[in-house]
Amino acid sequence: MRLLLIGDIVGKPGRQIVVRALAGLKIEQSLDFVVANAENAAGGSGLTPAIYHELIDGGVDCITMGDHVFRRREIYSVLQNEPRIVRPANYPDEAPGRRFTVLSTAGGVRVGVINLLGRVFMQPVDCPFHAVDRVLAEMPPEVKCILVDMHAEATSDEQLMGRHLDGRVSAVLGTHTHVPTADEQLLPGGTAFQCDVGMAGPHDSILGRRADRVLETVRTFRPTHFEVAKNDVRLHGTIVDVDPETGRATAIQRLAVDQSTAGRLASLARQEKSCPEPLHP
Ligand SMILES: [Fe+2]
Ligand SMILES: [Fe+2]
Repeated sequence: MRLLLIGDIVGKPGRQIVVRALAGLKIEQSLDFVVANAENAAGGSGLTPAIYHELIDGGVDCITMGDHVFRRREIYSVLQNEPRIVRPANYPDEAPGRRFTVLSTAGGVRVGVINLLGRVFMQPVDCPFHAVDRVLAEMPPEVKCILVDMHAEATSDEQLMGRHLDGRVSAVLGTHTHVPTADEQLLPGGTAFQCDVGMAGPHDSILGRRADRVLETVRTFRPTHFEVAKNDVRLHGTIVDVDPETGRATAIQRLAVDQSTAGRLASLARQEKSCPEPLHP
C-alpha cells in the first residue's frame, strides 16, 4: 500500500494546489492514504474548521499539525471531535486534541498516524521520544502501518527520532522547515525516513511568506505583515510503499508537483470521472 505525506500547506495557494492535484495524484500514483500537515493552512498560521473540511473533502485522509496547532482557537472543537486530525503527542494530556488516530484505507488497511514536535531551536515541550513510546504502547497491536510526522527544526532531532522508531513504525517523515531534504532512505529496521518533506505553497517566498516583507523586518526590526506569497506554487511531499502485513516500508520517493503538473492531474481526474473503466463481460 502507498502512503503520501504532504508537507506544511501554506495559506490559500497551498490549499488550492492540494485540492486541484490530489484526485489525479491518487490515480496516477495509486495512493491508498494521504496525510497532510495543515498547521499553516489558514492564512499561513493555524487551521480553521472550514479549512479542515475543505481539505478532507478534497481527498486528504488525515491532518497533522505542529507548533501552530492552537493559533486559531476555533479549531479546538475539531481537534476534540473529529477522528481525522491529530495534534502533537508530546503536548500535555490537558491540551485539546488526539495524541494519535487510527483510520482505515478504502481497501480496509488500518493506518495509525502520530504527530510529534522536536525540541531543538523550538519552544520547550515534553520529550517526544517518551511520548511516542507511550502512544505506541497504546496503539492496537493489529495496526501495522504507522506514519509519524516529526515536526522539527533540526535535522538531528529528525534523525534521532528516525533511529528511535526504526522497525517500530512504517515511516518517520519530517515537516516544519518547509524545505524538502534530499535524504530519503529506508533505515535498517524497515522504517522509511526523511528529515523534511517540504511544503505545499508559494515557493517564490521565505517559507511561504512574501520575501520583501520578511526581509524588511529582518533588516530593520520594523514589524510588517508577513503576508502569504503568491507565485511559484508547488506541492511537495513524500510517498512511502508499505507492506500492509508487516508495516515495513519497501520504498520511499520524493514528490514535487508544480502548477502545470497540477493542471494535468486535474484533467486526468476529470477524464477518469467521465469515463469509468469499461465493464468486461
Ligand atoms: Fe509550518
Ligand atoms: Fe511548524
